[in-house]
Amino acid sequence: MYQTLLSSLENGILTLTINRPDKLNALNKEVFTDLNKALDEIYSNAEIRSVIITGSGPKAFVAGADISEFSELTIAESRALSKAGQDTFFRIERSPKPILACVNGFALGGGCELAMSCHFRIASDNAKFGQPEVNLGIIPGYGGTQRLVQLIGKGRAMELLMSATMIDATTALQYGLVNYIVTAEELLTKARSILELINSKAPFAIAKCIEAANAVYDETKDGYSVEADAFSACFGTEDRREGATAFLEKRKAVFIGK
Ligand code: COA
Repeated sequence: MYQTLLSSLENGILTLTINRPDKLNALNKEVFTDLNKALDEIYSNAEIRSVIITGSGPKAFVAGADISEFSELTIAESRALSKAGQDTFFRIERSPKPILACVNGFALGGGCELAMSCHFRIASDNAKFGQPEVNLGIIPGYGGTQRLVQLIGKGRAMELLMSATMIDATTALQYGLVNYIVTAEELLTKARSILELINSKAPFAIAKCIEAANAVYDETKDGYSVEADAFSACFGTEDRREGATAFLEKRKAVFIGK
């Protein structure tokens, strides 16, 4: 089904592994095509409740956009490339189902941008993050300048963007770029346990959490108004009724996703 992704669906959790380990999982055209196909599936397949994105091999999550595709780009072509990459990462960020990045090594350039477009991140203790684009005479083009500021604050982001410095997992945790650090062996187990917990909640409410939290960063929207709309939309669901009834009956709610 995919040329550059491994995919497996277990207990409602889709694990997507970017699989170009000999190129440290660099994002080339084929990876973007595959990611978009996978996103079509994530948006449309009701069996998928949540998603893990990780990289193949012990060394890298994703070491960036594939630099070998950059050499002959014109100004117009590079703008189109940036817009297309941004659009793919918007689809990840706006997915109604949680998407968690499991950062298992280098997350550089487009790899750091991919991880930042996910709803949150966990890291193995050998993870390294950075936006080294200025080393190539360019800047991040897949949303990195925006999301790095959102996630770690302007001062820290400015330093990382301009100096191309890599930070380790401990610093990423301290900056709030990742939620947890675990060993490489524990990474997927930790991710699955977090997503199993989230998957036990009402899917409509989860989708609305994502929509409302994303509205904070969308200048075209009034976040409080998005929240009120989302809150009230939950009141139209059967799961909302089940949640309250189960609480009052002192039993665990059984959500049906409606
Ligand atoms: N694009 C294309 N190929 C890449 C790549 C990228 N972003 N990152 C790594 N690779 C390739 C290397 O060219 C090498 O391929 P080869 O074996 O055919 O020569 C292979 O992956 C292994 O990488 P290598 O550099 O030998 O590993 P290393 O352990 O010495 O260094 C890094 C690891 C991550 C520090 C180094 O690969 C690097 O700096 N990568 C580029 C990071 C970057 O600038 N990303 C932003 C791009 S906009």
